[in-house]
Amino acid sequence: MRKYIATLLAALLLSPGVMAEVNYQVVPLPQKIELDPQGRKTLLVRGQEVAYPAGNARMERNARFAQEFLGLKPRLMKGKRREAPVCLTLGLQSENPDAYQITVDKRGVLIQGASESGVFYGIQMLRKSIAAEQGDSIELPLATIAAQPRFQYRGAMLDCSRHFFSTTFTKKFIDILALHGINQFHWHLTDDQGWRPEIKALPELEKASYRSCTVIGRNIGLHEPGGSLICDDTPVQGFYTQDELRDIVAYAAERYINIIPEIDLPGHMVAALSVYPELGCTGGPYPIRPYYTIDPDVLCAGNPKTLEFLKTVLGEICDVFPSRYIHIGGDETPRTNWKKCQKCQALMKELGLKEEAQLQSYINREVGKFLAGRGREMIGWDEVLEGGLAENAIVMSWRGYSGGIQAARQHHRVIMTPTDNCYFDYYQLGDREAQPVSIGGYLPLSRVYAMEPIPGELNEEEARYILGAQCNLWSEDMASPDHVMYMLLPRLAALCEVQWCQPAQKDFKAFTERLPQLQKLYRTAGYKYCTKYE
Ligand code: ACM
Ligand code: ZN
Repeated sequence: MRKYIATLLAALLLSPGVMAEVNYQVVPLPQKIELDPQGRKTLLVRGQEVAYPAGNARMERNARFAQEFLGLKPRLMKGKRREAPVCLTLGLQSENPDAYQITVDKRGVLIQGASESGVFYGIQMLRKSIAAEQGDSIELPLATIAAQPRFQYRGAMLDCSRHFFSTTFTKKFIDILALHGINQFHWHLTDDQGWRPEIKALPELEKASYRSCTVIGRNIGLHEPGGSLICDDTPVQGFYTQDELRDIVAYAAERYINIIPEIDLPGHMVAALSVYPELGCTGGPYPIRPYYTIDPDVLCAGNPKTLEFLKTVLGEICDVFPSRYIHIGGDETPRTNWKKCQKCQALMKELGLKEEAQLQSYINREVGKFLAGRGREMIGWDEVLEGGLAENAIVMSWRGYSGGIQAARQHHRVIMTPTDNCYFDYYQLGDREAQPVSIGGYLPLSRVYAMEPIPGELNEEEARYILGAQCNLWSEDMASPDHVMYMLLPRLAALCEVQWCQPAQKDFKAFTERLPQLQKLYRTAGYKYCTKYE
């Protein structure tokens, strides 16, 4: 105690002019901010102790985050709860594990969570309140603050096939997600332009992580009569070993983020076909694509080796990623080759299938059974509805809301990620010249903010199948980390209020007034962001 008073006095005497400003109006806006009616304040001084309960490694880790974000000194809590100026505790009564409550009173700050993740979100909230320009002593208005996220699934997707991102940047990306209260990182690991995860039983796949060039200026020329591809000759290469993947999984888990790996199947598989051409209907060759189209070359559904290959891949993916959810893609799969392929047609006959969409559904069901055997659940893009949904499949609705509505009515769980609100590869300003080249489209900040994940068409029971919302960063035109961050921020801040706030709390103008404080943190952390918004 004497030491505490000494630190406090020293802070007061030594740094009178560096009192930081505190504002509890952060992103996402908590449900409750009750300020002391008399406007009293308490002092938080850097170097003060943050106490955490004994015997809980996650709470100890939380205390280290408080050290990193707030400049506090972790200390094991021995006796009474409020023995240190800042205390982290569990035991908040709430059915929502991510709920937190912060009590700022004369004794200091108490951050209470319904679980360890709630405490983490409380620490992030306090970090945002005191923003970036922190002095050594911070005057905190006395208050009670409480929040809990509206949705249990709060996602963001990054495509590392079209362009590869280092493990260092991937961790930075995870830090950004954590700052915004995201708890699911959907990682698009494979596609026509490159295979990224190591599969030990299939070593050839490492060769599929290399492409010699990338088309310049997007697909210019490809779709024009007589047009030809113009490529730059910069190779794109990148492969994650299983050790690296496990390290990233652990890094995310410390930040209460689950990683959902996606192996996109049976389409978007040219990278794998480039090294295992026997898995395609035509036998190949299938060079890795330097351009971006919906490729007609997909896995041959009629070849028994295809399911063998998929089970080998997904088996190792399950070994590396503990996620309950595994994403199997399923989008944009032309079935033209299947119509002409003897093997595919023979299997359809054997199974009594009438159309090729049912053949894709058959593959999904087989993969789903395999994953269920590993205790996992399958997510697929909304095309998985087409030949009939596999048992328990979770639908990611991207071509608008209709796939999600259809799935919820069939009592399947849904994640909403419609292009109109969630495709962060689209331009965010009307003036295209003012922004780096993008795939097209227009998704301003205001439209992300306006998203309502639960469509009015659903009744109360059906609405319960909507797990949450997610943004997607397809990386065709994002070759650098700076570009990824520019596309992500500040739109992720808008999505985070969609995921955390109740509809009645939402107000775009008020949100934009809260944004500059969050952007201070972006600048301190070196995150690139779009400084304008529409
Ligand atoms: C997708 O955008 N092809 C899911
Ligand atoms: Zn075939």
